[in-house]
Amino acid sequence: APEVRAITPLIGAELHGIRLSGDLADETIQQIKALITRHKVVFFRGQDHLDDQGQEAFAKRLGKLVPHPTQHIREGTSSLLELDSSHGGRADQWHTDVTFVPAYPKYSVLRGVVIPDIGGDTIWANTSSAYEALPAPLKQLAESLRSVHSNAYDYAAHRPKATTVERQHYEEVFASTRFKTEHPVVRVHPETGERTLLLGSFVQRIKGLSRADGQKIYELFQGYITAPENTVRWRWSAGDVAIWDNRATQHVAVNDYGGAHRVVRRVTIDGDIPVGTDG
Ligand code: SIN
Repeated sequence: APEVRAITPLIGAELHGIRLSGDLADETIQQIKALITRHKVVFFRGQDHLDDQGQEAFAKRLGKLVPHPTQHIREGTSSLLELDSSHGGRADQWHTDVTFVPAYPKYSVLRGVVIPDIGGDTIWANTSSAYEALPAPLKQLAESLRSVHSNAYDYAAHRPKATTVERQHYEEVFASTRFKTEHPVVRVHPETGERTLLLGSFVQRIKGLSRADGQKIYELFQGYITAPENTVRWRWSAGDVAIWDNRATQHVAVNDYGGAHRVVRRVTIDGDIPVGTDG
């Protein structure tokens, strides 16, 4: 069994003594899955032996790989997405991966490839403990709400500092095909039964509310999600791998490294359609 070092009480653990590959024993895969469920995000240092194919071979052991619905898939792979800072790949808004499709991924497996000397950390937040931290009236409010998620959000609003050319680039790369889907704001986790807050930057609006009210309610709940004690921050080295339960977390790549180069590669595992508290 891997050696487990929890990083914070609510989220994040380093797992030691495992060399990730497609050949791991079934028992080890089950242990890794159980630790992802428990800690929400787990980290493996020193997995420099992994190349793109090795990352995919390992990730396939967690479930069926799903390619990103709009972005370019890396040559020689079935599903691998590269986020390269020099091509605008900065995941610098709090989000859950790909929530603009109905059955969005259950796990993401992210590998550090080129890491800035300083900065470029990623922060994850636990959306289950965020729900639990809500006072009862806010739990009720959240449970009564549904939201619309889309990849066609307003890049001008999200990136006020972006130039016109950069905005056009974002639109082309990230929103060339437009998806729109509705989710409950409180999702019941299909394996643990935990209630989680399902929001993040793909939310376009909250159903039944004006844009202005929806924005305030969104920020109210996001504040519980991104509270410091509800998060874990990872200082990357090239060759590190992070795996998260995408049904119980949000994350953000801290955009503090300016012109330094940062490249990470991600594969995602097929998930299921969220179920709210009313079934
Ligand atoms: C992602 O949003 O999946 C990538 C996060 C990162 O670049 O650290």
